[in-house]
Amino acid sequence: MKQPPGERRILIVGLGLIGGSLAAALRASGYGRRGSDAAGGFGPAKEIVACDPDADEIARGIEMGLIDRGDTRLEALVEDASLVVLAVPVLAMSGVMKALAACLDRAAPDVVVTDVGSTKAAIREAAVTAFGHMPTNLVLGHPIAGSEKSGVAAANPRLYANHKVILTPEADTDPVATARVRALWAATGAEVLEMDVARHDQVLARTSHLPHLLAFSLVDTLARQDERLEIFRYAAGGFRDFTRIAGSDPVMWRDIFVANRDAVLAALDDFEAGVARLRRAVERGDGDAMLATFDRASHARHYFESLLNQTSYQAEYQMQQHGKLRYRVSPGGGVTGRIRVPGDKSISHRAIMLGALAEGITEVKGFLEGEDSLATLQAFREMGVAIEGPHQGRVTVHGVGLHGLKAPAGPLYVGNAGTAMRLFAGLLAGQAFDTELTGDASLTRRPMGRVADPLRAMGAEIDTAEGGRPPLHIHGGRALRGISYDMPMASAQVKSCLLLAGLYAEGETRVREPAPTRDHTERMLAGFGYEVHRQGDTCWLSGGGRLTAAPIDVPSDISSATFFLVAAAITPGADLVLEHVGINPTRIGVINILQLMGADLRLENAHEVGGEPVADLHIRHAPLKGIDIPVAQVPLAIDEFPALFIAAANAEGTTRLRGAEELRVKESDRLQAMANGLATLGVEHVLLEDGIDIVGRLEGEGSEGASYGGGHIDSLGDHRIAMAFAIAALRAGEEIVIDDCANVATSFPGFIDLARRVGLTLEEQQEAS
Ligand code: S3P
Repeated sequence: MKQPPGERRILIVGLGLIGGSLAAALRASGYGRRGSDAAGGFGPAKEIVACDPDADEIARGIEMGLIDRGDTRLEALVEDASLVVLAVPVLAMSGVMKALAACLDRAAPDVVVTDVGSTKAAIREAAVTAFGHMPTNLVLGHPIAGSEKSGVAAANPRLYANHKVILTPEADTDPVATARVRALWAATGAEVLEMDVARHDQVLARTSHLPHLLAFSLVDTLARQDERLEIFRYAAGGFRDFTRIAGSDPVMWRDIFVANRDAVLAALDDFEAGVARLRRAVERGDGDAMLATFDRASHARHYFESLLNQTSYQAEYQMQQHGKLRYRVSPGGGVTGRIRVPGDKSISHRAIMLGALAEGITEVKGFLEGEDSLATLQAFREMGVAIEGPHQGRVTVHGVGLHGLKAPAGPLYVGNAGTAMRLFAGLLAGQAFDTELTGDASLTRRPMGRVADPLRAMGAEIDTAEGGRPPLHIHGGRALRGISYDMPMASAQVKSCLLLAGLYAEGETRVREPAPTRDHTERMLAGFGYEVHRQGDTCWLSGGGRLTAAPIDVPSDISSATFFLVAAAITPGADLVLEHVGINPTRIGVINILQLMGADLRLENAHEVGGEPVADLHIRHAPLKGIDIPVAQVPLAIDEFPALFIAAANAEGTTRLRGAEELRVKESDRLQAMANGLATLGVEHVLLEDGIDIVGRLEGEGSEGASYGGGHIDSLGDHRIAMAFAIAALRAGEEIVIDDCANVATSFPGFIDLARRVGLTLEEQQEAS
């Protein structure tokens, strides 16, 4: 709930759109409305008063209920003001400050002054001239919000809601004054940040002033041409979107460009260089160069949006379109047909990473266009790698070599992707520049000490948040040296992270794994001509080599195929073929476990593509029985347990899992999340610290052949929990409703369509907020 500020009287100087909207937002927060603000109407009234050279604007402000009174003369209003907000155009600021300096002694003794100007250095200069120094009770500020409309009539109480306000306090600014200005803006629903004056002016020159200049210029150029009426008549969406801000207040913008001249010129130089590059590409008909630029820009645009909204790529898109996603899955259904699930997530991440670090062009087929691997792709674009696509699973990576990455302009945001963050940690530790890695709320809870600690032992400098959690600050320019590392847990991510750091380290980097984990990194490094050795449980490589681009054919992801393998295994009459699935021996735990449980599962058409074995998986329904899952299979099926628990719930007898404590630190605590969901369905189970016992139902027991009931499940935003309970509905007695499913897009875009195609009945809908 927004709190109205505690000020006794707020004086707004300049009642235009910005000042008027501030008054409107303060009113909306409850400020100055008798009976609704502090003390319920007792005590001295709180007032908003406004000064403006235009008496009509004041009259309109009073009529709209935004201000209590106003005047055209400042000295008539300054009496007892506790907070003065200067909301006049930038170049008028100097005159207004002089007038204020002459009468400020009549304001309240603890008066605080602030402004809303779009440039800060020029306004600070004006203040020093007016007051003879920079007063400690003057806190300069800038709400980053506006509209092409002007005047108090356009005042909008929501103009600042969820927008940023930048304050630029000086070293000796009174902290109480800063806190009061913060409280003012917080009351409008804005997010308040602090920055120094010079940085503010540079940032705004690029993000606001430059685009306004371009919009003014483009519209003016077109408007001068003879056939302008014709042109404007046909101007469509693109023109409208690009030039909306050319309708902004000309005086205000003239002032901004006068006041922020140097920073704007620097931004314009960079822009002109970019346009010149594109011009050359157009002139030469260089489609590749155009595509690389457009592609980078298009993805950056989506990425910025998700960054600002702190949600991952497609989850963000889904939220915009539909709010939070819910699945409703009808009980029963069949499982038949021939399908191909999307590309392998682990291999897709690595294809982009090694392709970017290789010399030459890497063509990738079958790339997973899921949110996680797209985050990796975007991060490399941020580091200057030209990447075309993805277009229907095809990606072209223009490798820059092991030392060709450039410092990204800001933090690298990898959304939900633990693999991206951990593998990046290794390869970024070897770069010459600093980086920051951030992710979504789920990733921010996951442990990163498991990679940061051994990387530090190699000489890397990495800061983590408390408890070894993200964000990770990786300091560049550190000399890495190889180590011999005994992994405390069986983790392919940790192993891969260290091997990638090892590419940059002096000497040998050796990793011993307590149990075999997926070896895609080793295979792909070898495919790119980098020597990787293995003996028993240890693999190693030496730093200082090079990677040579090679084509990559990404097989379908066995982890995604698993949901349909289990769906077929538990559904009477099922007969399903999953084509071209990766069956790397370090990934086939699910095949081994299902076969041990009695599944009728056969591998057909086995062959190898680009160093990875693939096959079609043919599965028919057969009664399952509960088993003790061999501990050695656990790392080989680590992502498959949510689905396997559903198989266990449909098997005769008890299935016991041990040695799976790693499940507690995945996208959710998967042991707990699955136990909660199984409890909702009425499946008997015992949860342990490192595993679970699940008591399956005899086939045909329960109502009409159902193995359990239905109910309302929370996926906790974990893609695999959501998909596991979706297929569980095939044997449920009633509907299963699953909340928070948007993250299915991280690994399995198109899941709903494929599920429908094989015979499930499910729909997506918006969760009521
Ligand atoms: C992955 C390794 C596994 C797995 C994850 C992908 C990889 O994680 O759970 O989905 O691509 O290396 P751990 O290494 O933490 O077991």
